Amino acid sequence: MNIEELIGKMTVEEKISLLAGASSWRTQAIERLNIPSIILTDGPHGVRLTTASEPGEMLSKTQPATAFPIEAAMAATWNEPLIHELGVAIAEECQYYDVGIILGPGMNGKRSPLGGRNFEYFSEDPFLTGKIGASFVKGVQEGGIGTSIKHFAANEQETNRMVVSSEVDERTLRELYMLPFEMVINEANPWTIMCSYNKVNGIHMANNDKYLNGLLKQEWGFEGLVMSDWGAAVDKVASVQYGLDLEMPGPGHRNAEVVEAYRNKQITAEQLDDHVRRILKVIHLVLAHKREVPSIDVDHHHAIARRVAEEAIVLLKNEDYILPLVKQAEVAVLGKFAEVPRFQGGGSSHMNPALLDIPLDEISKFAHTVYGAGYDETDNDELLTEACELAAGQDAVIIFVGTTVKIESEGYDREDLNIPHSHTRLIDAVSKVNPNVIIVVNSGSVIDISAYESQVKAIVQAWLPGQAGGSAIANILFGEVNPSGKLTETFPLALEHNPSYLSFPGNINQVKYSEGIFVGYRYYDTKKLDVKYPFGFGLSYTEFEYSNLRLSSSSLKDGDVLKITVDVKNVGECTGKEAVQVYVRDVKSTVLKADKELKGFAKVELIPGETKSVQIEVNERAFSHYVEHLGKFAVESGEFQILVGASSRDIRLFGTVVFTSSGDLREPLTLLHSLQEWLKDGRYADKVQFVISQMSQMKINEDNPLYPVVLGMPIRTILSSLQSFGYPQEVVDQIHSRFSEASAAQENV
Ligand code: BGC
Repeated sequence: MNIEELIGKMTVEEKISLLAGASSWRTQAIERLNIPSIILTDGPHGVRLTTASEPGEMLSKTQPATAFPIEAAMAATWNEPLIHELGVAIAEECQYYDVGIILGPGMNGKRSPLGGRNFEYFSEDPFLTGKIGASFVKGVQEGGIGTSIKHFAANEQETNRMVVSSEVDERTLRELYMLPFEMVINEANPWTIMCSYNKVNGIHMANNDKYLNGLLKQEWGFEGLVMSDWGAAVDKVASVQYGLDLEMPGPGHRNAEVVEAYRNKQITAEQLDDHVRRILKVIHLVLAHKREVPSIDVDHHHAIARRVAEEAIVLLKNEDYILPLVKQAEVAVLGKFAEVPRFQGGGSSHMNPALLDIPLDEISKFAHTVYGAGYDETDNDELLTEACELAAGQDAVIIFVGTTVKIESEGYDREDLNIPHSHTRLIDAVSKVNPNVIIVVNSGSVIDISAYESQVKAIVQAWLPGQAGGSAIANILFGEVNPSGKLTETFPLALEHNPSYLSFPGNINQVKYSEGIFVGYRYYDTKKLDVKYPFGFGLSYTEFEYSNLRLSSSSLKDGDVLKITVDVKNVGECTGKEAVQVYVRDVKSTVLKADKELKGFAKVELIPGETKSVQIEVNERAFSHYVEHLGKFAVESGEFQILVGASSRDIRLFGTVVFTSSGDLREPLTLLHSLQEWLKDGRYADKVQFVISQMSQMKINEDNPLYPVVLGMPIRTILSSLQSFGYPQEVVDQIHSRFSEASAAQENV
């Protein structure tokens, strides 16, 4: 496809017709020029290709495809190569179904554990989100299929998502909510990006010049296509003007408006061609990478889904080493989810699994089981009594509990962190007849387990583990696989402790991200608040020892790479995997910073007694913060600690580096800054000295009880006070000009 030649041949109307889809899941074709239509479909946990003939069947009638674990689970593996492999498998299925672009992965943050779509996002940590997201995108795109990283940006809630304005300061946006997108664009070059429904600081993302044109396309140099979330382009002409390339879904019913705006010169020929070029480029990429895939290796993909689920499962509690269970034990399996698995989320990611493992069947392969549903939609006394009877006298009881789709789904946020009452009362009743209770939790996000934690011996956080979740859970329970998942979101002691508690989800007009950069462990660790389970936490059936931290250098400057090496030893009795985490702490900073931030990780497998050296590299970005007045990330010179550990609260080794940055991050001082601030700054001592000496002539000096008040005054106020006290205008002007010069000089730094 010769894109420039095609653009040359297209009429304005044809170009504009390309800027909206042809239907729900297709781009517009132009037959006259042999431009075909390509298929875009959800995502992100597998291919959801609709076979519906009625709009109402869009979600329910879809082609069978591998339902992989949800994104929250993918991240909990902390295993980049594994997620890459998952991506390759998704691409294979897309090729088979002739899908060109898969709509995912979701890259949004988790500012509140109540976010209804948290299950579809990776982590509360932007770095981990960026890394796992990049692995997913690389895998899919290596398979010749495009991705659409979504939802760009600051779309951390479902409530009012189509109208609300996320009010976020620039530093928070860049460090938390934009960073994952930036990382994936740099590391994996996604073919497309999907803008979100919401507004950011008052402007809809579908026509947000600052973030689509300014940040994404100019600053980051994104050369792919920007599509709207389904129905997000509220003002079509503005979206064409301000950076949106493709409106979805189609058919486009506002093309005439765009033609008129073009004729009125509201839209330029360059703008139009740029959109068309980006769309044609993606169509070309899809065609160029099209492969004949005659069939899907369903079993192989099922096995990948199982490995991801196994590595995602987080063992939160294991009292008396009740797990792994002894094979051939007598076990009661309780809870409806054991028989009707809760394996995926609700909304646009909902799919039709190619296969489905039933946990009860899989557990029964290892043990002698009896089963009782224990609960249904509401509290059911008969089922409860039956469950208790079944549980009494068994070696152990495995209870499946979790959120339902009514609690957690795209479309709405959660009201609290509870699981249904029928589930908790089952735990309560059964734990009274059998002390060996293990709960398996199926939820897409954090739940509050404080009420029943002490009643159970083990807690297995299994997420919504995809179609192979049943066998993955059984393998973990019986020790076929050693758990190695770790939390990618903090389980707080109480919802009220969450930093967004008082501002989530805001009102219909706006939600204020008032906690700023202090999200998740960045908040809990800085505030030194106790949490239920910290970020990065997860138990294993073995133990790991960390030793011998080596840093490639103890002093760094711009452009340097620091190699962090640590020895990890398996000191237990079975093979296991450990996710080693590197955090950076800024020892002293002139801006507010979190206690620590994750900057690197690696997962290693070790047989008993084995030691491996794990090396993690970080560059200057790991020490930087976003400096608003400079409009860039930069490092403030000083000392930084390198923390290596098994969770954000289990730091095993510390190192120190000194970073000497070439830049000066100090904000320019102005006439609005106080004399005190000018004195402290020290850059322009001569200017300050001049004021001090002038004031001293007026007896405004340290001996004057009013002196502290003057120190706190803005220079502007000092000048006008001098004027009103009848001080010579000439001297006032001189002071003014000295400070103005100093401010101007700093602006130019
Ligand atoms: C969701 C997107 C999804 C799209 C198409 C929207 O409502 O927010 O994530 O890709 O629908 O189904």
